[in-house]
Amino acid sequence: MKNIILLGPPGAGKGTQADLICDLCNIPKISTGDMLREAVASGSEFGKKVSNILDTGGLVSDEIIASLIEDRLSKPDCKNGSLFDGVPRTLGQASALSDMKINFTHVIEISVNDEMIVNRMSGRRVHPGSGRNYHIDFNPPLVEDCDDKSGEALIQREDDKPETVLKRLSVYHEQTKPLSDFYNDQSLNNKLKYIKVDGSQEVKKVFQDISSQI
Ligand code: AP5
Repeated sequence: MKNIILLGPPGAGKGTQADLICDLCNIPKISTGDMLREAVASGSEFGKKVSNILDTGGLVSDEIIASLIEDRLSKPDCKNGSLFDGVPRTLGQASALSDMKINFTHVIEISVNDEMIVNRMSGRRVHPGSGRNYHIDFNPPLVEDCDDKSGEALIQREDDKPETVLKRLSVYHEQTKPLSDFYNDQSLNNKLKYIKVDGSQEVKKVFQDISSQI
């Protein structure tokens, strides 16, 4: 049973590595970012409520995130573990997950400097249906602007504009980075394994560094 958290700044490569790790460990991906974008795309009342927060790079409230996670974990595919992509993002969310009695086995921090991130975001392309993502130079799709599996069109995310990326980075440093210390402390008590990898390497090399340690 593996319950894995992927930590790292926006654009560190969490989503890219998440798909590879889920295939390797045969566990589902729980991405709050994908769930929120799906809600926005559906046009639901909830989607309308969170749409502006996503577009401007802020964080959705801890209460909303806790309820999304609780609901997702009740689905049968999570019974053998899950990969948490980009959640928790605040100490409040970490505490809510701990109240749900999830036994985290690994926390993987992907580190990349801010300058590289701004560059990466401008070339990102996403398949909205699955959340699969590509980069026009570093991780291109087989056919330009088309998803490798479905052949459907790729899009650019609304929150990938440079000014929004800078806002997301500052939110990350203020509210999410403290989780490194929080989970590092837990690893000292042997509660979980804390793995830090250099996300500035090629996608394959980052995955090798992760897969050799989980
Ligand atoms: P979310 O979707 O989670 O975005 P994020 O954490 O900001 O991360 P990204 O998806 O932007 O990047 P990533 O690390 O997955 O990188 P990727 O693999 O795509 O959240 C979006 C928004 O939703 C938030 O801003 C917030 O508003 C809200 N939200 C979500 N969760 C929340 C929560 N828990 N609490 C509150 N609010 C929440 O890679 C980026 C690009 O680089 C791609 O083009 C990729 O192909 C390329 N790339 C990847 N790896 C490499 C590599 N090694 N070398 C070169 N290029 C690479």
